[in-house]
Amino acid sequence: MLCSSSSLALLLPPASSPSLLSFRRLSRLRSSPLSAAGLSRVTSRTLAFSARTESISTMANDEENVGNVKKLLARVFELSLQATVPDETDVEPIVTASTVGRFGDYQCNNAMGLFSKLKGKGGGQFRGPPAVGQAIMKNLPQTEMIESCSVAGPGFVNVVLSNKWMAKSILKMLLDGIDTWAPKLSIKRAVVDFSSPNIAKEMHVGHLRSTIIGDTIARMLEFSHVDVLRRNHVGDWGTQFGMLIEHLFEKFPNIEAVNETAIGDLQAFYKASKQRFDDDSEFKERAQKAVVRLQGGEKRYRDAWAQICAISRREFDSVYKRLKVELEEKGESFYNPFIPSVIEGLTNQGLVEESEGARVIFLEGFNIPLIVVKSDGGYNYASTDLTALWYRLNEEKAEWIIYVTDVGQQQHFEMVFKAAKIAGWLPTEANKFPRTSHVGFGLVLGEDGKRFRTRSTEVVRLVDLLDEAKSRSKAVLEEREKDKDWTEEEIDQTAEAVGYGAVKYADLKNNRLTNYTFNFDQMLSDKGNTAVYLLYAHARICSIIRKSGKDVEELKQTGVLSLEHQDERVLGLHLLRFSEIVEEACTNLLPNILCEYLYNLSENFSKFYSNCQVIGSAEETSRLLLCEATAMVMRKCFFLLGITPVYKI
Ligand code: ARG
Repeated sequence: MLCSSSSLALLLPPASSPSLLSFRRLSRLRSSPLSAAGLSRVTSRTLAFSARTESISTMANDEENVGNVKKLLARVFELSLQATVPDETDVEPIVTASTVGRFGDYQCNNAMGLFSKLKGKGGGQFRGPPAVGQAIMKNLPQTEMIESCSVAGPGFVNVVLSNKWMAKSILKMLLDGIDTWAPKLSIKRAVVDFSSPNIAKEMHVGHLRSTIIGDTIARMLEFSHVDVLRRNHVGDWGTQFGMLIEHLFEKFPNIEAVNETAIGDLQAFYKASKQRFDDDSEFKERAQKAVVRLQGGEKRYRDAWAQICAISRREFDSVYKRLKVELEEKGESFYNPFIPSVIEGLTNQGLVEESEGARVIFLEGFNIPLIVVKSDGGYNYASTDLTALWYRLNEEKAEWIIYVTDVGQQQHFEMVFKAAKIAGWLPTEANKFPRTSHVGFGLVLGEDGKRFRTRSTEVVRLVDLLDEAKSRSKAVLEEREKDKDWTEEEIDQTAEAVGYGAVKYADLKNNRLTNYTFNFDQMLSDKGNTAVYLLYAHARICSIIRKSGKDVEELKQTGVLSLEHQDERVLGLHLLRFSEIVEEACTNLLPNILCEYLYNLSENFSKFYSNCQVIGSAEETSRLLLCEATAMVMRKCFFLLGITPVYKI
């Protein structure tokens, strides 16, 4: 595949880029465009790779890849591979970031695989993988990105980026904005199904995890130019409504007069109706009939249902508002009218069978079938999820549908996805779109190592939890006597940013599949890998810039950035990895990758700041620009993690 000539500007010095075609010919003719002096030969060494996880394929266009060093290098190696093995048309360049400094900044790892491929075809001109590596290196087109290259071990091509190019790229980002470093994914629209609590039941810490993780995934996708439908798939349909409605009628014979305050605590109301349901068989029967009447659309039942939903909704919204999370509700009930035709379609395809009075789909590899119509004729969680998936694919034209729930629901989703594949709604190949993903997460534990609960063993109310995080942060600010020179509003906003940020970050920094222990002292500590530490680090950078008395906007226009000192270079290289890290976190649906990046960024900055004098040094302008770039990248990370940055401490 060829790229447009304008996109080459990034790869090539202007003088050598008249057109790609002539450039390719040129690169084949030249023996080695890279200076021989820059090529050290390393022979037998084992290399450590950052072989983490696969990325989804993105558009191979260099203009699109601004800021994504890995992708830009992949383009350069693609050209070299085309020149090295012109007959092999399907060789994808494998470029990874090096985790060990002495092996350069990035590596191309194609040689070994390519050698065995050629050998399998009966030889080829190379003596072994190292020779393939040498040829790949030799055929690299001239590019201002690369300072030097070397071949190590079985043909790994190590790349050292040019300081000048790195500095130039960072300055360009400072001028054009960090959004130019956004990854470009190959999909246009995604659904992120997250939070999704159940009406009249408590919104527990599991829903808090889903809300926090789901919001970050949505933010990362949105930043990557994907149109995201943020779906709150609330549990607003089902048999529990029968008893809730009957209990409501019993308590308030004059339903019109009922309002939120009359019902009071919806959870207590739920408990009371459940008690009636369990204790009184006559009530139970009425409740079961109420479900049918509700589902039949009888007005009185519909109105009562809507009222109960509205009360829950207000409660949920208060949590979303505090967390600054946007969601659009399309609850289970929304899909109800579509269920019969979806099931009919599946039945016509021969997928649905009768089993013990129910209608089910048998799926290979599962010892239970997926029940799509219960034996009483009612629909269930699976009927709704199959239909919602159908709707998202066909009506909403989503290419990637992501479900964020606890790992306990994994099997349910695996079964739904498998059924959709058999029905031909989804491709069977794992890497093709449209695609579905279940983003599972572990439990939230209390300090006793058991499921997180309050002292009274009741479920923790989310609002209380957020209140406590905020008031604890506020207490720290007051202890530090910030109230002497900050306004009441500033204290309040900072306490909120730090408190809520701490709760979010403590959740996001762990691999989501592991359980995590909820501990206020730990998450609110200003040491270690916490939001507090990171927010303070950002504020400190802002204060360095303020103290310099310089106008950074002006410096961006007129100043020059250079990365001469070792610690400047390490920091600069880390900044340049932002785009590929966001892409990795996003495509693998792992926010902890971004957290780890942010923490390391802050560590690299500390090292730079302790070894390189900023204010009053000869390099002041360049170093202030590096400070500003670090602050910009940190702020974007905070934004993607749903954390509000603070500017002073
Ligand atoms: N309401 C469910 C629960 O609280 C989560 C729903 C997740 N989304 C879905 N499409 N099933 O466990």
